[in-house]
Amino acid sequence: MGFFRDHSMPIRKKFVAGNWKMNTTLAEAKALGAAVAKGVGTDSKVTVAVCPPYPWLSAVGDTIKGSSVVLGAQNVHFEKKGAFTGEVSPAMLLEAGCTYAIIGHSERRHILGERESVINHKVHTALEEGLHVILCMGETLSERERNLQERVFQRQVFAACAGLTDEQFHRIVIAYEPVWAIGTGKVATPEQAQDAHKFVRSKLKQLYGDKIAEATPIIYGGSVTPENTAGLMSQPDVDGALVGGASLKADSFLAIVKAAGVV
Ligand code: 13P
Repeated sequence: MGFFRDHSMPIRKKFVAGNWKMNTTLAEAKALGAAVAKGVGTDSKVTVAVCPPYPWLSAVGDTIKGSSVVLGAQNVHFEKKGAFTGEVSPAMLLEAGCTYAIIGHSERRHILGERESVINHKVHTALEEGLHVILCMGETLSERERNLQERVFQRQVFAACAGLTDEQFHRIVIAYEPVWAIGTGKVATPEQAQDAHKFVRSKLKQLYGDKIAEATPIIYGGSVTPENTAGLMSQPDVDGALVGGASLKADSFLAIVKAAGVV
């Protein structure tokens, strides 16, 4: 992920992930995976991940073999194995070909009631088992209207990351996703994204020191399109995108990857 030049500031490689959410048939998922793999090829300028629904993971994994696209899951359970009906463990995801798991997405926090203690437990188990984690956070509209976003970021970062070692933290990508921007067509301005990412990075510095904080990719999610990508990516602390709706069409997703790679 990040690497260091002249022992000074790291160059963070851009990271673009497509979160397909609960969309696609098997045929659509395979076609989308194949088209993304073809478009990205083996170019490693941008790290590209696709996160299909659980049942399509292996099939999509087959379509991206030989390309530099990696596979991610949209969720993972907090225990390693056992009597947890309907849940999927980190080891199962690894065996299905996943490198990443998304944890703490706002739809899981707000629709499915996932608490911060559960998110922290999931992060620990996923990292212990060898996954990389895309850790999501972000404020609601009412929190932003009351100017509480920094308080929310601080709480979410500290809660989700409590107890992680430096080595574990190297496998985390943070995704800032303001809830009011998800699926609404209302994208954060580049300045709003930069302010949020800079604040989150300052909290990571407090927890893990400058070197790790500077190497951690902090990506933006919420109504990202090919048109608004370059503006967002031009900000110094915006290191990529977590894309929902626009990741369901290969053309728009690849245009976002391309725009992220030229900044
Ligand atoms: P949209 O890009 O559809 O707004 O979704 C963002 C998101 O939730 C990605 O995880």
